[in-house]
Amino acid sequence: MPLSKTLEKYGIRKVRSGKVRDLYHWKNELWMVTSDRVSAFDCVLAEEIPSKGIVLNQIALGWFERTSVICPSALLSEELPLEIDLPEWEGRLMRVLPCDPLPVEFIARGYVVGGAWKEYLEKGTAGGYKLPRGLTYGSPLPEPLFTPTTKAKQGHDLPLDEESAKEIIGENYELLKNLTLELYLHGKSYAFNKGLILLDTKFEFGIREGKIFLIDELMTPDSSRFWLREDFERDKDRCPHYDKQILRHYLEKTGWNKQPPPPRLSEEIIKEMQARYKEVLARLFPERFEKVISLID
Ligand SMILES: Nc1ncnc2c1ncn2[C@@H]1O[C@H](COP(=O)(O)OP(=O)(O)O)[C@@H](O)[C@H]1O
Ligand SMILES: [Mg+2]
Repeated sequence: MPLSKTLEKYGIRKVRSGKVRDLYHWKNELWMVTSDRVSAFDCVLAEEIPSKGIVLNQIALGWFERTSVICPSALLSEELPLEIDLPEWEGRLMRVLPCDPLPVEFIARGYVVGGAWKEYLEKGTAGGYKLPRGLTYGSPLPEPLFTPTTKAKQGHDLPLDEESAKEIIGENYELLKNLTLELYLHGKSYAFNKGLILLDTKFEFGIREGKIFLIDELMTPDSSRFWLREDFERDKDRCPHYDKQILRHYLEKTGWNKQPPPPRLSEEIIKEMQARYKEVLARLFPERFEKVISLID
């Protein structure tokens, strides 16, 4: 039976597709199914990364479990109701409370990489904060920074200065800033003990009945940057990224102007992404890795 017919049978309605996740309604719940799609520079690529959706979902689930003491998440369950049989969603599903997403990407940074590195080279700052001179790519910051951006429905996210961020976020600004930094510090120290450096990450929060929930994904290689701790300790200036950065680097090397259509991905880059994302799951949440190993390529 085609998927659409099966869904109809169970009363599951498709709401929409994000770049990576497909969203469904079932009763009063929202269901997120993480696909193998991959996006870069706000463009969904033609190729998929086999099993990436399972790996991402398992990492996010592992973190949601660990961080609920800091901030509740929208997660209700990762299991299908007993009466529903949908083997194609095994390992990819998250049943969540529908929330109103805040239109902000809550970014925390502990190291100077990515956009922060570009800004540092140009202006000596990151997210508007003045940084010490002489930092190199990947230098640890004196303290983690909160550098929110807009969450654009289309096109690129733009950096928000404190005043604009306060205006968009409203009365919860201080609380959400503190939660962002606390969640990052927790993630960074947990990851460090598992042999990973969590350089930076992005959180999303939603509001429901006046309460704040963590939503979407959490500290995955799509939403964060990771290095291996052993690489960092050997030579900080030569650390391969275990995250989407390798894809951005690959795409930039092709000379692509970042307008659709994006270039094709080589077999090698697809394999490399698969292997690196898998390594992050295996290190962070080995029990989850073992549980899904038979489902992933
Ligand atoms: N609990 C929730 N309630 C409402 N919306 C959510 C919830 N969790 C995630 N979302 C939204 O679902 C979408 C997930 O799909 P994704 O592919 O990650 O989207 P995007 O293209 O925005 O990255 C995002 O727009 C996210 O804000
Ligand atoms: Mg998302």
